[in-house]
Amino acid sequence: MKEVASLLEKLRRKGYERSIESIQNNIFDIAGIRVITNYIDDVYLIEKMLLNQSDVTLVRRKDYIQKPKASGYRSLHIVVAVPVFQSNGAEVVNVEIQIRTIGMEMWASLEHKLRYKTDIGADVVAQYSTDLKTYSEELTTIETKMQAIYQQLNHYLD
Ligand code: GTP
Ligand code: MG
Repeated sequence: MKEVASLLEKLRRKGYERSIESIQNNIFDIAGIRVITNYIDDVYLIEKMLLNQSDVTLVRRKDYIQKPKASGYRSLHIVVAVPVFQSNGAEVVNVEIQIRTIGMEMWASLEHKLRYKTDIGADVVAQYSTDLKTYSEELTTIETKMQAIYQQLNHYLD
């Protein structure tokens, strides 16, 4: 769950009005979950399984695996609308779901740490950022190769 302070900060940053309606229309990540998988293909399998549920509707989709961010960040982000049942009826709520591999998760947590480090020099941060961008590409290669082995093994075992 997004904290109230962070919610208000986001409204301010994006220039949205401070109202319940504005929050409902503009902020899609008040509630979020992250799913971590072993392989890249599993990311899309999880997405498909989720969207196959009759009460889950896709609101927004950003595929940073197909198209990584400039930083090298990879992950599949979907926003879904789900009904939440309460005693006075159902209310539809948006939930942001981030689906990524163990490798992507490991990368993102390290890069996130670097982003919020203020006590190291700008030149060091720049060098690490460049390194991380390269490592993101290398992780993609390794994940693709390991997935191929996994699929071959499954093929022989079936
Ligand atoms: P908002 O409406 O601001 O949420 O825009 P958005 O949903 O398009 O944001 P985006 O999809 O770019 O990112 C949402 C979340 O993804 C962030 O809160 C982070 O958790 C994660 N994220 C995005 N970009 C990066 C990145 O470069 N590095 C890391 N470590 N995490 C990122
Ligand atoms: Mg977001």
